[in-house]
Parts: sequence; structure tokens; C-alpha cells
Amino acid sequence: MRRIIVGTVALIVVGLLGAYAILQSGLIPANADAKPSSLEQWVAETSLQATLSREAPTTPNPVALNNENLIKGIHLYTKNCVVCHGTAKGNASETPLAKGQYIKPPQLATDGVEDDTMGITFWKIKHGIRWTAMPAWNKTLTDHQIWTLALFLKHMDKLPMVVKGVWQQGPTDNLITNGARP
Ligand code: HEC
Repeated sequence: MRRIIVGTVALIVVGLLGAYAILQSGLIPANADAKPSSLEQWVAETSLQATLSREAPTTPNPVALNNENLIKGIHLYTKNCVVCHGTAKGNASETPLAKGQYIKPPQLATDGVEDDTMGITFWKIKHGIRWTAMPAWNKTLTDHQIWTLALFLKHMDKLPMVVKGVWQQGPTDNLITNGARP
């Protein structure tokens, strides 16, 4: 019995030393200009899905669906999200900041989240997504503002005419869209 325990401990120590040696060798890539491996992707996605099913709210969105609230959502999005998720032009509006990220932020007018429940989108915006550049917005936005964003994202591909006009007008500040003023 003692020999088994000593053997197991020795194996674990050798394993840890080996892992440390590999880390120190620089063979595990630390660069951002690469594609995530399928193992990395699987771990991150499984963890995210499991967390969402435990924690994402299933209650209805407390912010009413009307033009005023959708426009409020567009303004919040334009101010905070365009720099990574693009404008109504979708993939064509990808900013330099978005292009260089390791986990690419979806350009939401092309790859939207209309199919997700608003509770799931609320959770992702509020808490952010670990191992990616998606920030947790609960430090800067209220729950009400986050629900307003979730409302807009849910309806992004079926906005009433007048709201669609505001969305397509896009941000006026080149700092956001081009990364530099002309
Ligand atoms: C600094 C970059 C950055 C900013 C700013 C940012 N995000 Fe993200 N966001 C990301 C990245 C990267 C992902 C992809 C994460 C992943 O693949 O799991 C993401 C994912 C998401 C998702 C999930 C998309 C999906 O397909 O499941 C939503 C919804 C989202 N962001 C909403 C927002 C909103 C709303 C804002 C503004 C309040 C915002 N994000 C601001 C980087 C950003």
C-alpha cells in the first residue's frame, strides 16, 4: 500500500515538473495571432454553456418592446459595443481592434444573437465571457441598460422602419469606426 502511495505521489510530482518544463520552454503559444485549438474551444464552450444553464435568467425581459426602448438600445450599443461588434454594416465594419483579437468578436449585424433568449444575452453582457475580450458590463451599466441592449440585439434583424433608420445611420464618430480621426 505504501509503495502505491509513494509511486502515485512521485508520478504526480514528475508530471507537474514536466508540465512546468513545457511551460518554461515556450512551446505553449502565447501569441494572439493564431486560431484557438479545438481542445481549447471545446473546454471554453462547454464551460460557458454549463454556466449559462445554471445562471442565465429565464424571467422575461422587464424592458418593454417599443420603438423608444429599441432606439435606447441602439444608442447604448453604438457607444459601447461597435468597437468590437461592428455597425449595421456587419462584417464590412470590422474595426482594427476586432480584427486583432484572439477570440474574434462576432460582427453582430452579420452573426447576430437573435436566436438566443434575452436572458442568455443579458448574462453574457452583464458578466462578460472568460478567456475572451468580452468585458463584464456590470461595472458600468445598470441591469436596466443591459436588458435594453438584450432587447435591441434580439430584434436587430426585424426592426420597425423608423428604428432601422437610426440603426443604419450608424455612429458619427470616426474614432470608433476607424480607430483614428481623419
Ligand atoms: C473589447 C471587445 C468587446 C467589446 C467592447 C464588447 N464585446 Fe461582446 N464579445 C467580444 C468577444 C471577443 C466575444 C466572443 C466571445 C466568444 O466567442 O465566446 C463577444 C461576445 C458577445 C456576445 C455573444 C455572441 C454570441 O454569438 O454568442 C454578445 C451578445 C456580446 N458580446 C454583446 C456585447 C455588447 C452588447 C457589448 C457592448 C455593451 C459588447 N459585447 C462589447 C468582445 C467585445
